[in-house]
Amino acid sequence: MYPLFFRLVFSRLAPERAHHLAVRWIRLVARVPVLRTFVAAALAPRHKELRTEALGLRLHSPFGLAAGFDKNALAIDGLAMLGFDHVEIGTVTGEPQPGNPRKRLFRLVQDRALINRMGFNNEGSAAVAARLAARTPVFRTVLGVNIGKTKVVPEEEAAADYVKSAERLAPHADYLVVNVSSPNTPGLRNLQATQALRPLLTAVREAADRAVTGRRVPLLVKIAPDLADEDVDAVADLAVELGLDGIIATNTTVAREGLGLRADPSVTAETGGLSGAPLKERSLEVLRRLHARVGDRVTLVGVGGIEDAEDAWRRILAGATLVQGYSAFIYQGPFWARGIHKGLAARLRSSPYATLADAVGADVRKHA
Ligand SMILES: Cc1cc2nc3c(=O)[nH]c(=O)nc-3n(C[C@H](O)[C@H](O)[C@H](O)COP(=O)(O)O)c2cc1C
Repeated sequence: MYPLFFRLVFSRLAPERAHHLAVRWIRLVARVPVLRTFVAAALAPRHKELRTEALGLRLHSPFGLAAGFDKNALAIDGLAMLGFDHVEIGTVTGEPQPGNPRKRLFRLVQDRALINRMGFNNEGSAAVAARLAARTPVFRTVLGVNIGKTKVVPEEEAAADYVKSAERLAPHADYLVVNVSSPNTPGLRNLQATQALRPLLTAVREAADRAVTGRRVPLLVKIAPDLADEDVDAVADLAVELGLDGIIATNTTVAREGLGLRADPSVTAETGGLSGAPLKERSLEVLRRLHARVGDRVTLVGVGGIEDAEDAWRRILAGATLVQGYSAFIYQGPFWARGIHKGLAARLRSSPYATLADAVGADVRKHA
């Protein structure tokens, strides 16, 4: 039913307008107790075998919603209601900012892909922290908070901007993500170089520790699929060296590979990050590379082109403890997470692995 709805309604609206409409509907449904209980009962993950532990947290499932959908933490309960067991809000920056001028989000429907150059449009870490502080959660969901650099802050002062956000947001976060991989903030991806990344991650770690007593907020870094293989290795080594909790692989790509011949050249020529199906193979490759390097010393989160349970399962076998998605949610709609959970549980049951944890990285062990 959703594909028809998408064709008749969403695809006729500008992508960003469709997004805001969807967020509004999700929030609305989540505000009505009877409705949300009914929807959550139908869609929430309830396969016992998918229960897992990661980053010192207990989860109902390894599957969650990637950053960028709920930048301002407006719809966490609504998204949990739709079955996402963890929701990563953000990217949130130190200061509020409008992002790039519209149009800045484009669909490539045939390729099941998106191009975006949103540019971290968000209300800023003070406003988002206040919203999280005032929130009474309805559903139990793991909350990730993804932070990035304010555009007008020069690269040399980036750490202070991240630190400001970390201090404000870490108290509300189950885990914190340093995003250095969006292609839409000039210079941001330079922070992936280890000489910039080491002091940045150290400063954010210290800020989180200052801001939160009584527990250690897990810290992760999110990387681009466009890194050269040696740079992926360098980030992996740095993560081990710093005792980082996790790496999220990957963000969107500036490459335009893997698109069908019928892809509209006026859209593929748009500046921004490509996400969805064409990103699948490279994201998987980066994940494999990371896993080969860090083993089980660093938790890996697989994201990029995950469309169905088979994609999610392949990431787990390649070394991901958690998996996330965004673009396929736009194309597949509210039953997407449910289908992934069902398919994942079935795959695990018919696999030789007793638990999900046993399946993590099993591909690599098999070929070792
Ligand atoms: C419209 C849009 C906005 C995004 N915004 C962010 C963001 O603010 N921060 C971030 O770390 N990733 C952001 N992402 C990247 C996603 O979190 C994800 O890494 C990427 O889209 C690959 O996953 P997918 O192929 O399942 O979409 C965004 C993606 C899209 C499509």
